[in-house]
Amino acid sequence: MRRNPVVAIDGPSGVGKSTVAKGVAAQLQFQFVDTGALYRAVALAAYKNGINWEDGNAVAREAETHSFCFDSSGNLAMDDVFVGDSIRTPHMSEGASTVAKHPEVRAALLDIQRQLGKDGGVVLEGRDIGTVVFPDAEKKFFLTASIRERARRRHLQLLEKGENVTIEEIEKAQVVRDERDSNRAVSPLKKADDALEVDCETKSADEVIQLITYSVVSSH
Ligand code: DC
Repeated sequence: MRRNPVVAIDGPSGVGKSTVAKGVAAQLQFQFVDTGALYRAVALAAYKNGINWEDGNAVAREAETHSFCFDSSGNLAMDDVFVGDSIRTPHMSEGASTVAKHPEVRAALLDIQRQLGKDGGVVLEGRDIGTVVFPDAEKKFFLTASIRERARRRHLQLLEKGENVTIEEIEKAQVVRDERDSNRAVSPLKKADDALEVDCETKSADEVIQLITYSVVSSH
């Protein structure tokens, strides 16, 4: 029995999971773990070493040669070097979604995620936290919003970072990623039966943060 809960927040890309999970973790003073960052970092490492993202075994071997840790603000360091925004480009979004479909890669990252959350007091966000990584999480949430709204939000984020992409390009890439993330054979994006679905279409990030924080606090 964990003293503090594991909070699992899953959902499709661009729904605002990171902002929400970070906000909830700050309110609860829990550790924030962005599991997508692990897949992105693995895609980046593979890319730098000339490994084809379609080669699951080679990417998994690459993942196993690196160490990963998150600081208290949830920033990921690979081999003790913060990866920062190098993993946040559209190219690495594509790479992460591609490497994440391989069972070998998912297996290589599973233990790391479980270690990070095993003592509770943690908010993990991803695609399969409530279904596979922590099926016994005390609190599970599944965020949803239409593809148009998610593309709009991602577009704003990328504009702020100076990336020059159109909303149509983002929406197109998002459809491909959604399809791949939802239809892969292992650990597809899926709502856990016992997760609370939160429709984020018309809610601000703050509203979702309050809703989730209240739900965690009131049941613990
Ligand atoms: O959340 P994100 O957009 O940073 O995730 C990048 C990719 O990683 C996403 O397309 C699917 C994959 N991913 C996954 O398969 N399982 C997770 N728990 C987190 C991310």
